[in-house]
Amino acid sequence: MSRYILAIETSCDETAASIIKDGTEIISNVVSSQIDSHKRFGGVVPEIASRHHVEQITIVIEECLIQAGMEPTDLAAVAVTEGPGLVGALLIGINAAKAFAFAHGLPLIPVHHIAGHIYANALVQPMEFPLLALVVSGGHTELVYMKEHGSFELIGETRDDAAGEAYDKVARVLNLPYPGGPHIDRLAHEAQEAVPFPRVWLEEDSYDFSFSGLKSAVINYKHNLDQRGEEIIPAQVAKGFQDSVVEVLTAKTVRAAREYSVKQVIAAGGVSANKGLRNALEEAFANEGIPFYVPPLKLCTDNAAMIGAAGFYMYEAGVKGNMSMNGKPGMEL
Ligand code: KG4
Ligand code: ZN
Repeated sequence: MSRYILAIETSCDETAASIIKDGTEIISNVVSSQIDSHKRFGGVVPEIASRHHVEQITIVIEECLIQAGMEPTDLAAVAVTEGPGLVGALLIGINAAKAFAFAHGLPLIPVHHIAGHIYANALVQPMEFPLLALVVSGGHTELVYMKEHGSFELIGETRDDAAGEAYDKVARVLNLPYPGGPHIDRLAHEAQEAVPFPRVWLEEDSYDFSFSGLKSAVINYKHNLDQRGEEIIPAQVAKGFQDSVVEVLTAKTVRAAREYSVKQVIAAGGVSANKGLRNALEEAFANEGIPFYVPPLKLCTDNAAMIGAAGFYMYEAGVKGNMSMNGKPGMEL
């Protein structure tokens, strides 16, 4: 018998709900984005995010059930993002999930947001283990090794800014709107020449990342030209920045895939929507002969379908939350 999971995601600036069948099939997927409200501040304002979630959460859950043509009695469980994320934002989703689960006598499944990003791939093709995931989003830059379902080993992470955070900050320097990632991506493809920015490799055997030095290099470059009264060429700066980020992310992912002899490599998170990064990873893993996948764009950025996919495997493994569940802003994988 098929099992349907209602999933809820409110860790940042998307209020999202989805119904997933057996961890692999999207029945309905509703995302209410708040990007327009945060744009003028150049980033997500936590208090504004919470207020939007409060206004949207019941509408989004109801819409999700209507689109699926389902009743709460058709569901097997409610999965919800427990962390990491903005605590006020997380709590809106968690409380909605608790209320729904309690009212309809359903089990509650707490899901890690990054596990969700990785499991977005299970909605597209079967996951093959051992697997390596490059998780790149506004809050994360991580290389995760998975031996099997539910097992996550963090082998590398950012020591300062997340890749998406660096994109958004550099976009601000270039006077591009928030979120800046897609704009830099577009501009980078318009330039022939790139401003030469450094590559930060850290220690020779490290799988960690660092992007704050690169961000500072962009800021200094603009500052120096400003002082000389010269104009920067935004597309060349964007290409220089993107080339540096993509080269380091790709090289470390390839090295890890070789060392851990993985059968599948996946990219996840908002920055995996980046065309330059996708192309570089696709080419590199075609050469390596290792299958590489990125979920479609709407499953790369925050959504609840991915939480439902991860939640299903946790449900199968018997993981359960309870009514004292709390938001975990710094939750470890
Ligand atoms: O996964 P996500 O939707 O939210 C977080 O959990 O952080 O990722 C959002 C991040 C933002 O920093 C945004 O600028 C970045 O993903 N992003 C991109 C692209 N599309 C979104 N970065 C680079 N290139 C893109 N095409
Ligand atoms: Zn995310």
